[in-house]
Amino acid sequence: MLKCTIDGREVEFQSGQNLIEVAKKAGIEIPYFCYHPGLSIVAQCRMCTVEIEKNPKLQTACSTPASDGMVVSTKSEKAKKNQRSVMEFLLVNHPLDCPICDKAGECDLQDNSFKFGDAYMRTSEDRRTFMDLDMGPVIKKNMNRCIHCTRCIRFGAEVAGIREMVAIQRGNNTEITTIDGRPLETEYAGNYSDICPTGSLTLKDFRFKKRAWFLKKTATVCEGCSRGCNMEIQQEGGQIYRCIPRENQEINQWWMCDEGRFNYRYTMDKSRITEPKVGTPGALAQTDWGSAIQAARKAIQGKKTLLLLGSDLTQEEAILLQKFAKQTLANADVRHFGTPGVKTVADDAAADRLLKRKSKTSNLHGVEKLGISAFESIPAGTEAILVVRGGRAVLPSFGGVASVVGVGVFADSEAKALSTVLPGAAFTEKDGTIVNFQGQEQKLKRSVLPAGKSKALSEILALWTHQGAGLSSQTGSKSSAATLSEGAV
Ligand code: SF4
Ligand code: SF4
Ligand code: FES
Repeated sequence: MLKCTIDGREVEFQSGQNLIEVAKKAGIEIPYFCYHPGLSIVAQCRMCTVEIEKNPKLQTACSTPASDGMVVSTKSEKAKKNQRSVMEFLLVNHPLDCPICDKAGECDLQDNSFKFGDAYMRTSEDRRTFMDLDMGPVIKKNMNRCIHCTRCIRFGAEVAGIREMVAIQRGNNTEITTIDGRPLETEYAGNYSDICPTGSLTLKDFRFKKRAWFLKKTATVCEGCSRGCNMEIQQEGGQIYRCIPRENQEINQWWMCDEGRFNYRYTMDKSRITEPKVGTPGALAQTDWGSAIQAARKAIQGKKTLLLLGSDLTQEEAILLQKFAKQTLANADVRHFGTPGVKTVADDAAADRLLKRKSKTSNLHGVEKLGISAFESIPAGTEAILVVRGGRAVLPSFGGVASVVGVGVFADSEAKALSTVLPGAAFTEKDGTIVNFQGQEQKLKRSVLPAGKSKALSEILALWTHQGAGLSSQTGSKSSAATLSEGAV
């Protein structure tokens, strides 16, 4: 095994690893700005310099691979002096606006200044100033804060596959902008904000809404497509403020697309139905859970029923519904639906060169693993439909069937074809397992409570099974309480 010594500690490493990564593994922090493990190395901020034995000059740790027997000091007087000098240089032009900056609390410049900078500066010159600028629908730019690390330029060119960020002018006038000031085009623009080590590129969706240190974080998975990018939901008081990617080298590396990042919005949209509703298609009225369950049972009871299951449901929910169909709905036919044009896993493929998949539901591969077939058309003689979905699956046409009970997340406009709505939990409001296109099982984690009067699917089915009389005599089954708790999510 290869070994080097950093700050007097012997550290093992793999060939090719740079000193920043080797030190990190040993719990030793080397400050940096321009380095990012997912981008090419340019060694231009000079913050990461370290002293290496037998080397007359300081070396940049990001661009120096560790070698066997190397002796490195990150805390020698020479290295520390350089860190203080670089911080002073970077702050010559940086405004003192941390108290009103959105990046405060998670800003590398702020943290490195506190940990590695000096308490005093010698600068007395005016700082350069720019106007805040829109860079399209996702990003707002504040050039006053930029330290010209070029991470954004490299992310665009190397990861998103689009050369849209450039540096214009030179020296003190250097400015990061898009070519001709055009709006950003990439569908991965939110990552610019994640990787910017300062508050120069901020998310318009999140700006000035909540201080970073108030946010409660839940490690979960995106439900936006069959890739299942790892992400973190950040909320406070039940309100979700943003989603950011979590590193997973096998699935999404460090990134996520904008569609997935902002997908949470529909779960908090005013048009989401969060109270039970009954009536006729196009004329639904709010009611209590007891009446809604009775109405739903009546709509299905004794009728030839088709159970349509969204491939945006979790494995636990799908298993629960399979059992429910068998035991409570007289062996109703169960079919899955999700993305128009992507009926089965055979139709699912890459939708772009980076992460996006054609299946816009997260668990298509999981429901097929359970042996559930794709929905093709309404079978002849169908008298009632029970449609259950998470929130992403696109509702199919119900072919004029009048009794359609919807369970899950529906917007007002989507409920026009439903005769009853039993509001369910969104992906941000439940735990469960989803299977991505690689066959990897991943866990959804509940971040907030179900909105309004919405309930978990296990609760809804338990209410359905136990309230009033009728359906159990059709099937001959007794209480399915044990079954429900088995699959409860
Ligand atoms: S805008 Fe941010 S990421 Fe881009 S060069 Fe400036 S500091 Fe770096
Ligand atoms: S690629 Fe798919 S899973 Fe990843 S963030 Fe985008 S929508 Fe979500
Ligand atoms: S991180 Fe090494 S020079 Fe910037």
